[in-house]
Formats: sequence, C-alpha cells, structure tokens
Amino acid sequence: MKLTGRTALITGASSGLGAAFAEELARRQANLVLVARSEQVLTATAGRLRDDYGIRADVIAGDLAVEGAATAVAQRIGELGRRVDLLINNAGFATQGRFETIPADRDHQQVMLNVTAAVDLTHALLPAMLAEGTGGIINVASLGGFQPAPYLAVYAATKAFMISFSQALSAELHGRGIAVLTLCPGPVDTRFFEVLGSRAAAIGQQLDPATIITATLDALITGDTILVPGWRNRLTARAATLLPRRLVLATAERATRRVVAP
Ligand SMILES: NC(=O)c1ccc[n+]([C@@H]2O[C@H](COP(=O)([O-])OP(=O)(O)OC[C@H]3O[C@@H](n4cnc5c(N)ncnc54)[C@H](OP(=O)(O)O)[C@@H]3O)[C@@H](O)[C@H]2O)c1
Repeated sequence: MKLTGRTALITGASSGLGAAFAEELARRQANLVLVARSEQVLTATAGRLRDDYGIRADVIAGDLAVEGAATAVAQRIGELGRRVDLLINNAGFATQGRFETIPADRDHQQVMLNVTAAVDLTHALLPAMLAEGTGGIINVASLGGFQPAPYLAVYAATKAFMISFSQALSAELHGRGIAVLTLCPGPVDTRFFEVLGSRAAAIGQQLDPATIITATLDALITGDTILVPGWRNRLTARAATLLPRRLVLATAERATRRVVAP
C-alpha cells in the first residue's frame, strides 16, 4: 500500500518500536494518530514530527488495557475528523516468572492490551478501510509467539494469538485491498525490558528499532504477510515450527528457567 498522505494510527507510540514507526512514517509523509498513556511524551513527539516533516499528527492519550478502550479511541478519531488508513497494533508488555507468582490483575491487563485492544481496534477501524477498498494493518507479535515460553507463558500466548489472528485476517482480506502484515521481532533494545523487570529474557538476534521498522514498512508495501527480522531469528522461528513440540517446549523451559526463574 502507498503511505504518502495516508493516516496511520500507532498504538504504543510513546516509546520503542511505536516511536520508531511514528518517525519513519512521518519521514515517508504519512499523517499520524499517536496513542499511548503518556500524553506529554506523545504531544511533544507529535509537535516535533509536525515541525520536522510537515505532516498532521494528532494525539489520543488513554489506557488501552481497559474495557471499551477501542470504542473510545474510535470515537475520538471521529471527533478529530480523521479516517485511519493504516492501523498499527503495537502497544504491549510482558510479565515473567513462575505463573503463580505473577499478580493476576497484571496478567489480565496484559491480555487486555496485547490481545483484546488489538482485536477491538481492528473491529472499530477495518469497516471504513473495506468501504474505501484500501488500507493496511500491522500487528506486532513476537519471535516468542512461535512456541510456548514457560515463565513467559501469558506473554508468549498473547503473541501466538496475534500471529494466528493476523495471518488468518490476511488470508480473509486477500484481494480486497487491505494489506495485513504480522511483525515478529526478536529482542529489541526498548523500554520493554525495563517494564518486564529484567534484560535476561532478551534471547535471540538483536536489531535496532529503526532497522526493524524500515524493513516492516517496506514489507507492507511489497505485500508480505509476515516478517521475522534477522536471519538467525528466522531460523529460530522455523525450528520452532518444524521440530517436535515436546522437544521445543523442553528446550524453551530449560533456556527460560535459567534466565527468568532460576
Ligand atoms: N522489545 C522487544 O524485545 C520486543 C520483542 C518482540 C516484540 N515486542 C513487542 O513490540 C511491541 C512494542 O514494544 P516495545 O519493545 O516498543 O516496548 P516499549 O518501549 O515498552 O513500548 C511499549 C508501548 O506500549 C505503550 N503501552 C503500554 N501499556 C499501555 C496501555 N495500558 N495503554 C496504552 N499504551 C500502552 C507504552 O506507552 P505508555 O507507557 O505511554 O502507555 C509504549 O508506548 C510490544 O507489543 C512488544 O510485545 C517487543
């Protein structure tokens, strides 16, 4: 899909991959709607991108992990008089440790943000794209979504959901003008590990956010449906899909126990 002059809504635009999406899309002359909880950060980013690139950038500050969040975002888009051409479901976080030690409300928020908000926003914004016969959706999953990850159990499951949901959607929408791309990054140096509480789970080939986002937008334009940045990460993803599940699970349990729940 073409990006110049189109409007992209990015969830989790206040830091990390979301901020890199905002920068690269603005550079490519797309208009933006930036969503996250940190209003001051988003407002400063929007102002700078407007000045640097001459694009339109709006801010919708809010917590996407609460019931009805997507409806509120869609309503605000209407009030702003915007129509979203590209939805980027990027906001997300992880919990780690033995399942019984993780506060239940934290895992609940994780599922609400990583899964429910993405599904709800897709419901809210896809119909207008279909009516126009053009649009795009990028779902940010993870390399961690290709196999169960003990001690990161809920996180890996949310990302497995996103891979499955996103790939199914891309097949449903094929030939109807809507491009759907599933992005599955390996470890990236962002606030993600600060929120997680440790860098130990950064397993895999590390790439910087700007490299990943450039490759992602190029893949969207080419019409690719899934992207695992980094050849070593692609090898890991392939192995996780081809090897017997019991072997993959036992290997993952040993690798993560050592670093996440010794
Ligand atoms: N970093 C990695 O190694 C890695 C690897 C694979 C996949 N990913 C995925 O990449 C995506 C982006 O993560 P990142 O690495 O860029 O991490 P990050 O720097 O921590 O960014 C997370 C973003 O999500 C937003 N967010 C968190 N909770 C929110 C909530 N309740 N409501 C609205 N927004 C919320 C944060 O903004 P506020 O705090 O301002 O709300 C922030 O903008 C996530 O889905 C993550 O799972 C990351």
